[in-house]
Amino acid sequence: MEEKEEIIRLTGLVKRFPVGNGFFTALNQIDLSIKKGEFLGLVGPSGSGKTTLLNIIGTLDTPTEGEALVLNRSVASLTPKESAALRNRSIGFIFQSYNLLPVYTVYENVEFALLLQKNSKEERRRAVTDALEWVGLADKAQSRPSQLSGGESQRVAIARAMVKRPAIVLADEPSANLDAKNSHTILQTMRKLNEELDTTFIFATHDEKVMQYLKRTIHLEDGKVRTEEL
Ligand SMILES: Nc1ncnc2c1ncn2[C@@H]1O[C@H](COP(=O)(O)OP(=O)(O)OP(=O)(O)O)[C@@H](O)[C@H]1O
Ligand SMILES: [Mg+2]
Repeated sequence: MEEKEEIIRLTGLVKRFPVGNGFFTALNQIDLSIKKGEFLGLVGPSGSGKTTLLNIIGTLDTPTEGEALVLNRSVASLTPKESAALRNRSIGFIFQSYNLLPVYTVYENVEFALLLQKNSKEERRRAVTDALEWVGLADKAQSRPSQLSGGESQRVAIARAMVKRPAIVLADEPSANLDAKNSHTILQTMRKLNEELDTTFIFATHDEKVMQYLKRTIHLEDGKVRTEEL
């Protein structure tokens, strides 16, 4: 099998948050290498550090100690402008709450992710149309979020994260509000995009349904990597 390119490397990663007079260690010496095209889950109890880790990989937060390399850039060294540019170009986010803009249509919600890029209107139209087709929502392009089911809303959020064809997609509890059937549909969609576009997916989850789709699971406990199952 061909060796895939490493796109994330965490070395001795520590994250502490100030609390009261001291601090709380949310991540404690994490070492982890993630390659292009992985479909990986961060699994662990509430408070184990999953979201904290996703936030650092997503360049929304910085390490206290150690190093986080994302697409060969050290997260700690990025200026706010550089990290915003990196996110805009290369990282898609899917949150538990879909964060759709209620006054815009499905089409506009997905298109929104492209507005910071210098595409022509026609390029945007093609990209949005493709993304809505990937998630099976081409026929809902003109609907508003209030007219969608939870599963459909989550699929719009996936389309919005994927429309830029980012190298990395980060998903924090993406199935939390979905029933079993919708969870499976959505995970199958993400696996398909992972296979077809070689997008790297990283999940934070404690949902068994998500776990069965993962190609690799990282167990977190008290801010540490416990075991690794391939
Ligand atoms: N800004 C902050 N200030 C202080 N403590 C924080 C902060 N953010 C997170 N923590 C603490 O760090 C720990 C890890 O939090 P994190 O949100 O990463 O957990 P999680 O694994 O995502 O949990 P959940 O499954 O409940 O979402 C928790 O104990 C949390 O209280
Ligand atoms: Mg969390």
